Amino acid sequence: MASLKTVLFLGVCLSDWIVTTAEQNFGTKVENVRWLSLDFKTILTWTVQKSNHTYQYNVFFAEDEDPEWVESEECSQVSDLECDLSNHLMPSDRTYTADIQTIPDTGSYDPEELPHTFSPSFNPYKDSNISAVHFTVEAVDETTVTVNITDTLTSVHLGEKQLTIRDIFKKDLKYKISYYKSGSTGKRDILSDSSMAQVSGLDPGERYCFMVAAYIPSRTKPLKQGAWSQQRCTKGYINILQELSVGAWVGGIFILLTVLILISTVTVLCYRRNKQRYETTQTSQASGPI
Ligand SMILES: *[C@@H]1O[C@H](CO)[C@@H](O)[C@H](O)[C@H]1NC(C)=O
Ligand SMILES: *[C@@H]1O[C@H](CO)[C@@H](O)[C@H](O)[C@H]1NC(C)=O
Ligand SMILES: *[C@@H]1O[C@H](CO)[C@@H](O)[C@H](O)[C@H]1NC(C)=O
Repeated sequence: MASLKTVLFLGVCLSDWIVTTAEQNFGTKVENVRWLSLDFKTILTWTVQKSNHTYQYNVFFAEDEDPEWVESEECSQVSDLECDLSNHLMPSDRTYTADIQTIPDTGSYDPEELPHTFSPSFNPYKDSNISAVHFTVEAVDETTVTVNITDTLTSVHLGEKQLTIRDIFKKDLKYKISYYKSGSTGKRDILSDSSMAQVSGLDPGERYCFMVAAYIPSRTKPLKQGAWSQQRCTKGYINILQELSVGAWVGGIFILLTVLILISTVTVLCYRRNKQRYETTQTSQASGPI
């Protein structure tokens, strides 16, 4: 009997221990670590398996050439599943790796032993997506226009200054300008070194449409070209016959018809009246004294 008690006691103890161990939570590694980057706004994102625990995270980053890990102040003990590292990844033409530590929500822990996950490496200069640019088109003369492109602002600051993509890429930044004559299918592409380009050799009086995209020849193929801008067109000469809408045409024809009908009615009436008067005169003459 005594031995049975001992066994039972041991069993309870053991199950208690197992439960305690299960509840003792060391946190789990984060997964799917990804870089999202547009115009040098660079955000590290990750996911975590569903659980009833709320974890916090510490984010570290290092330049691949430099073994020193730096903790991101903004992303220290955060509970979000993302961290904006835009202003840390400088200089931008370096390759960086981040490391995400999971901090458990219970008890004490050894900072050296925390579960952690490395990110893929990332080079903002080579890998950040470039969004569509804004630009204007102005006629210089009949055959030439100026395309004025605004260098997009990035999320990177140097002191007080918010840098543009030109500040970062400098001479590496070109613009691809694609244009076509309205009504024709042939497109022409030109590459401009500067943000202000002249396009010449246009047919006088024709309407032309333009699209612009940032273009960085030093990058690898799929990342060379930024997003295409919206299309902008010149006015060309306004050809009245082409420009009039169907409504205007119908209205015009209606007015024309009304005028024609009025004229013919008036003509017919006048004619009849004159004829009548003539006949009356004739009759009165005829019926005059013989
Ligand atoms: C850049 O854009 C492409 C296409 O939308 C996307 O697949 C890729 O993940 C983006 N890259 C970054 C670093 O955000
Ligand atoms: C979370 O807690 C609920 C209720 O306490 C339980 O039913 C569920 O299985 C738990 N989920 C996980 C992933 O542990
Ligand atoms: C080009 O566009 C920018 C921004 O819209 C404007 O400030 C600048 O004056 C323009 N330059 C010319 C030469 O039109």
